[in-house]
Amino acid sequence: MTRGRFIALEGGEGAGKSTQARLLAEALRALGLEVVTTREPGGTPGAEAIRGLLLGTEGEGWHPRAEALLFAAARSDHVERLIIPALEAGKWVICDRFVDSSRAYQGGGSGLSDAEVLELHRIGSGGLLPDLTLLFEVSPEVAAGRLKVRDGDGADRIGGREAVYHARVSDAFARFAEAEPARFARIDGNGTPEQTHQLVMSALAPVIGVNP
Ligand code: TYD
Repeated sequence: MTRGRFIALEGGEGAGKSTQARLLAEALRALGLEVVTTREPGGTPGAEAIRGLLLGTEGEGWHPRAEALLFAAARSDHVERLIIPALEAGKWVICDRFVDSSRAYQGGGSGLSDAEVLELHRIGSGGLLPDLTLLFEVSPEVAAGRLKVRDGDGADRIGGREAVYHARVSDAFARFAEAEPARFARIDGNGTPEQTHQLVMSALAPVIGVNP
């Protein structure tokens, strides 16, 4: 059994990841591949319960280290119970956000060091990394327009943080992509969903090509 491929979609708020995850899954299924789509925080019952704790707007919230630990705990359950079994069964896993979100938000945004975030990921999930990480980059104006349609005034606890926080997150994602060009594909997400999907399929061609 050939191991499946693990593709993560990353980017700031309103980057269009969820739409692209759906279009990508449909395209891969049309090629005859078995595909599992999932998301973080979440993907398993336990991790979805932790998602509620992280993103709910009631209560006083978490300090940055507790938040990072909760994301790592949710990811650990998700990796152990869903992602690894699917990959070992030969399925492709398309994941809306993964560890690079923790590096960008809890690291770049909230100030943990990259080494700390990666250490939590090593403990929780054996340091598993995607085969390819698609980083969707959109202008702040395009992101703001999409969020208004999606969330109105009801952003979640992290999405609702101030603009400078989200600017640090975007800068962090860009740095990671520059540092690891083989694992990241940077995708211009400013166009229509179909245009962006074409860019995704071009970026994936080498990965699809090597899959027997
Ligand atoms: P979600 O509604 O899925 O946001 P989006 O549609 O923008 O992906 O909420 C996920 C939120 O959690 C988002 O604000 C990013 C944040 N997040 C982190 O801060 N760290 C992480 O490790 C992950 C996976 C998400």
